[in-house]
Amino acid sequence: MTALLRVTSEDVARVLSCIQPTGSVHLGNYLGALRNWVTGQHDKDVFHGIVDLHALTTTTEPRVVGQATIELAAMLFSIGLDPEVATVFVQSHVPEHSQLGWVMECTVSFGELSRMTQFKDKSAKREAEFVSAGLFTYPALQAADILLYDANEVPVGDDQRQHVEITRDIALRFNHRFGETFVVPEAVTPAAGARVMDLQDPTSKMSKSTETENGCVYLLDDPASIVKKFRRAVTDSDADVRYDPKAKPGVSNLLDILSAATGSAPSALVEHYSQYGPLKQDAADAVIALVEPIQQRYHELMADRGELERLLRVGADRARSVATATLRRTYDAIGLLPC
Ligand code: TYM
Repeated sequence: MTALLRVTSEDVARVLSCIQPTGSVHLGNYLGALRNWVTGQHDKDVFHGIVDLHALTTTTEPRVVGQATIELAAMLFSIGLDPEVATVFVQSHVPEHSQLGWVMECTVSFGELSRMTQFKDKSAKREAEFVSAGLFTYPALQAADILLYDANEVPVGDDQRQHVEITRDIALRFNHRFGETFVVPEAVTPAAGARVMDLQDPTSKMSKSTETENGCVYLLDDPASIVKKFRRAVTDSDADVRYDPKAKPGVSNLLDILSAATGSAPSALVEHYSQYGPLKQDAADAVIALVEPIQQRYHELMADRGELERLLRVGADRARSVATATLRRTYDAIGLLPC
């Protein structure tokens, strides 16, 4: 029954995007990516993965990723992904990701991986810590995530553009070597909210690994904390409300967030403010209005873990039916000896 409701026509765009189960979901994740996943689900064929194997690149404690995975599943359904139409799955439940990941590692060069900004940033931040080889080869596994599903569109925040670019390069190289096998995907980023910045350090993107406790707004934050974080947001000393991301990154970030939350352009919003205080308050109120219904649904869903696990099994079955065929096609294109 469920399968009949899903969009399966060949003319319909296939969408794939994923998120790591590391830490709590924040406003950047939501405005940059997750919200777009929900918008597309009724007229496109959408697949969304909780990429637990990617999280292993920085995991050292037992059981943490599993718990984060179930919480993230609850969050994805709470923001509005409808299990009747959207395929939500866990990466490690679909072994084809690791299998195609190896093929991708053999199709990307050491030099290309060395140029990835995210690897350079993350490995620099972990200076005195263990830097896994997985952190370096990460984009190859991400390419497998995307190419396994013949995705046309990959809705992501701005920081993932480079990873989608390298996926395109890998797909084109593979197709050139072994014949047309993969669909070449495109990154899709939102007009507002593609790069939400840290409220305490508005020159860095909002991130789960932030060192400034008040810089990151989580979807599960209570209203009082959200107001506090926005009130303390770093702006600048002249009290002029202007949209100028280079000269005024803090104020522009607040305008961007308000714009993403309300749908009005930053240029229209600036007209309403002559001081920072009311802008901060309105941004906080708009964010609270977005997260309140999500939080309510989240707590309901977390109360029934069995149902969440069931939904993830349904998602894994659907995902595998596509992934198995793509892996087979890939092995056949290379000409590996069938078993
Ligand atoms: P991750 O888990 O870091 O983030 C999930 C999504 O949130 C977006 N995002 C942001 N958007 C705007 N402003 C921000 N401050 C912000 N921070 C995060 C990210 O762009 C992303 O879309 N490598 C990916 C996960 C991944 C993936 C994939 C994505 C693995 N395989 C295949 C797409 C397709 C990552 O670490 O995202």
